[in-house]
Amino acid sequence: MTLNIEVLEQSFEKVKLHADEFAASFYENLFKANPELKPLFTKTDMKSQEKKLLNSLVLIVENIRNPEALEPVLKALGARHVGYGIIPKYYRPVREALLVTFEQYLQQHWTPEVKKAWLDAFTAITALMLKGAGKESSPKVDQAQNSTILAKPVQAEQPVTLQFQTKILAQPFNQVFKQISHKLIDAFWIAPTWLIAIVAAVLFTIVVVIVDDNSVLGEALGAADSVSLVVALVLFIKETPDRRKQFHYQAWSTVDAAHNVKVSYARILALQDLNEDGVSLRGLDASGAELVDINLSQANLSKANLMESDLTNANLSYANLDNANLSQAKLSGANLSSAKLGFANLTQANLNSANLSHANLICADLSNANLNGANLKDANLSGANLERAYLNGANLKNTKVSNAELSSAFLEGAIMSDGSKYRSQN
Ligand code: HEM
Repeated sequence: MTLNIEVLEQSFEKVKLHADEFAASFYENLFKANPELKPLFTKTDMKSQEKKLLNSLVLIVENIRNPEALEPVLKALGARHVGYGIIPKYYRPVREALLVTFEQYLQQHWTPEVKKAWLDAFTAITALMLKGAGKESSPKVDQAQNSTILAKPVQAEQPVTLQFQTKILAQPFNQVFKQISHKLIDAFWIAPTWLIAIVAAVLFTIVVVIVDDNSVLGEALGAADSVSLVVALVLFIKETPDRRKQFHYQAWSTVDAAHNVKVSYARILALQDLNEDGVSLRGLDASGAELVDINLSQANLSKANLMESDLTNANLSYANLDNANLSQAKLSGANLSSAKLGFANLTQANLNSANLSHANLICADLSNANLNGANLKDANLSGANLERAYLNGANLKNTKVSNAELSSAFLEGAIMSDGSKYRSQN
């Protein structure tokens, strides 16, 4: 079973005409049928929540043909829902309320075919959100649906024991050898240092005894201090992770010490070193920090707080900035090519002449942002908020963005998605 994308797109176009009322009616229907769910939203600003829900639906429908972009966003959304106290059984009432609302707004266009298309889509969305939440899709929600938009075809199941036996028998010798060596390496890192030192000394002594005294190797190994040299070398290797840990600890201390400090060159170096060492910078709090020219290419900065920070000319290409707070950040001339900026807050950010080509900006808030002269070629702006965004002279060639999203943006001299140059009507 595959999703009926055309039906989804066409029916959603009709709903989009009454977008605001649709979202309000959805919550009305949800709470009317399930008053017990209302307390989940007691601290929620419902007006902004309605907009968020709608944006996420726009995002889903617009990217339904682009599962690579959609999958991580939905998994992350599902993971965030765990924090809102959402358990799998709540997905069913939400699905029912959504279907009732669609029926209400589509009226005669709510055919069995449209209903099935949305039911399948919701099942696929739920499966991914629950996967992100660390739970497999509940059978109560999924029921008879056996495939999702993005899931691979399910293989016929073999009995578990048979699978296991075939695995063992079919394993060639080099795989067994590989497994043993992996086990030995794991044991090397887990075992206490004193034990490794003794084992190294014993093994070395055995080799010395076995090797012919008159051979070149025998002479080299025979030197008195060879044992201590070998043991020292083994210990040096064994303690590498501890040294790395210590380095990470020191680097994080530098970053923490610079909290609330505007200018800290040490923090820039520490962040770059941590990133180079593959350490995640997720949730970093560096609001207001001066980070001009910093190189954080490929960094994991999801959920980072970089509000009002100065990232002028920074290299953030391929960085993960999903859900990051970059409001009022200075990002002019920054390299954000192929960066992930889904749901990021970029209100009033200065992205003048920034490189955002191939960036994923789905549902990002770019209201009042300065994107004059920015390169947004092949970027994805579905569901993004571009209210009063400045895009004069920007390159929007092949950018995924709708006219509605651009309706209140300033676009003088911009290269539009189809390659044409924007000219104002007056
Ligand atoms: C199709 C499935 C769903 C979609 C697309 C969706 C979408 C969203 C979005 C976009 C947000 C805004 C916050 C964020 O991005 O993390 C949100 C928040 C929230 N959602 Fe959902 N949601 C879904 C399912 C559910 C379900 C099943 C429940 C359970 C009743 C639920 C309850 C909530 C609550 C309580 C919040 C937090 C509001 C706050 O910020 O206080 N959602 N949802």
